[in-house]
Amino acid sequence: MSIERSLVLVKPDGFRRGLSGEVLRRIESKGYLLVDLAVLTPTREQLAAHYVEHQGKSFYEGLVEFMCSGRVTAAVIEGQDCIAGFRSLAGATDPTKAAPGTIRGDLGRDWGGEVQQNVVHGSDSPKSAAREIAIWFPHL
Ligand code: RTP
Ligand code: MG
Repeated sequence: MSIERSLVLVKPDGFRRGLSGEVLRRIESKGYLLVDLAVLTPTREQLAAHYVEHQGKSFYEGLVEFMCSGRVTAAVIEGQDCIAGFRSLAGATDPTKAAPGTIRGDLGRDWGGEVQQNVVHGSDSPKSAAREIAIWFPHL
């Protein structure tokens, strides 16, 4: 167990629906610290760096279109094992399958688009977290 930082994004669907506060409430209620927060519209350059692992996949272009379609709330959170802990709070990628009690299970659904709009992003490993935090919060 180690103190970690993770990059969380409230995606444009969540931001548009006014769910930033609810997501941050769940993070704080869990006990994780908010290290930094920002509201911004992602650029294609930021998204190309952020989603480098998905370049070439069938959903990549739709994912970038979706993610630059509006503002996001970006947060760096901190706490013991918060990378896995936030993934657990977020729930499964597919909001239809995400368990009730999770962010995606409680707040997300299939809206019929070509890419899954699932309210939040969370880093999936310490290496990803360090890479992603440098993209969205270069001063940290
Ligand atoms: P995230 O990176 O956003 O935290 O989500 P994740 O790890 O659970 O999922 P990942 O495999 O990294 O995929 C990134 C995002 O791409 C969209 N996606 N759509 N077939 C599809 O429609 C599809 N597959 C992936 C989702 O928005 C997913 O969160
Ligand atoms: Mg991912």
